[in-house]
Amino acid sequence: MSCCTKQAPPRMTMTKDTHPAGKLMPMPKLPCQKDCENCKEKKERKLADQLKPLLVSAMIVISILPVWAQEATTPAKTFWDDPFTHPLLPLYAVTALAFITVVLVIVVALYMLKLLNIMAQQAEAENAAKKGIAYVKPVSWWEKMWDNLNAAVPTAQEETIALDHNFDGIRELDNHLPPWWKWLFYATIIWAVIYLSVYHIAGSLPLSVDEYENELAKAEEQSRIYKASQPAAVIDENALTFTNDEAIIAKGKIVFVGNCVACHRNDGGGNSIGPNLTDNYWLHGGGIKNVFTTIKNGVVEKGMPAWGKAMSPQDVRDVAFYIMSLQGSQPQNGKAPQGELYVPEQKTDSLPAVKRDSLIVIK
Ligand code: HEC
Repeated sequence: MSCCTKQAPPRMTMTKDTHPAGKLMPMPKLPCQKDCENCKEKKERKLADQLKPLLVSAMIVISILPVWAQEATTPAKTFWDDPFTHPLLPLYAVTALAFITVVLVIVVALYMLKLLNIMAQQAEAENAAKKGIAYVKPVSWWEKMWDNLNAAVPTAQEETIALDHNFDGIRELDNHLPPWWKWLFYATIIWAVIYLSVYHIAGSLPLSVDEYENELAKAEEQSRIYKASQPAAVIDENALTFTNDEAIIAKGKIVFVGNCVACHRNDGGGNSIGPNLTDNYWLHGGGIKNVFTTIKNGVVEKGMPAWGKAMSPQDVRDVAFYIMSLQGSQPQNGKAPQGELYVPEQKTDSLPAVKRDSLIVIK
């Protein structure tokens, strides 16, 4: 109880036993008006004064700390990446063992103490019973701490802090905020000061926005490095030649099944929307180069999407290879041929072609 009970306006409303919710409502605390020797508030203020230099020096230390997060370099291999071959493994293992042993010893010691305590209390209780005296259980440190933390006025003494408000039997108690709450509150104030000086005044650590931007910049850098390490993504369709490359055709099949079957049927045989892709007749020219170009640019006005905008050049190449591999597969109920019969170009690099009306040999 404080010396200011009588002077200070009420800080709590309603008593525990009369308020329907059984809850006490804290209200803002007003300063102590009367000077008194053992006033709790005065003590707390004194403590705060003592803490001030400590706080200031802590703030200075923290604010001159190096800028940690902004200088993040590529992380070295940590212990957990490969714990079994790490050179410090024995040290860590011994430390961990020692730690576990210490914890176990403490647990066992506490347990033994508790047992001893219970036995001692039993002996005392028996002694007291023999002598015919009432046995009073000693207060444990935990109970003492609990009382100190809460500093609640026992229900039996509530009359001493009752205020003379009375509303329909609901009375008001002049309770203090529990010390644990107050200390928590002071801790938040201290934390706020540290936080403000570190993050906003000294700028030693990046704010959330900066952290976000750092992360973005890092990700962009990584993506740039990754892209630079990849082979050129562009495929020159003029240099494209079809080979029976099973790996490419298998990849192309996946692309075909995922994107094309709705209009060209599972087997490429065509349906009411798309033409048959397995015959020798082509609307836009056969051969790997034409097929690649048709898939890449589409025939948008006729309902064939331009896949070059939606997928990578590799995927377009793969699916073009797959379609070339379907040539002559003659699926059942295939759509009737559309377009013109495509005759593959003669290979000119093995045999020199001779123009009919001249004698010049073209190499
Ligand atoms: C929304 C329907 C639709 C989808 C999906 C579609 N196509 Fe087509 N496709 C068509 C139509 C319609 C044509 C015929 C265009 C025309 O009449 O000129 C066509 C034509 C083609 C041609 C040219 C055929 C020829 O005779 O010259 C090729 C090759 C082709 N599509 C491949 C594909 C591939 C590969 C995919 C999947 C990545 C695909 N198509 C997805 C509708 C579609």
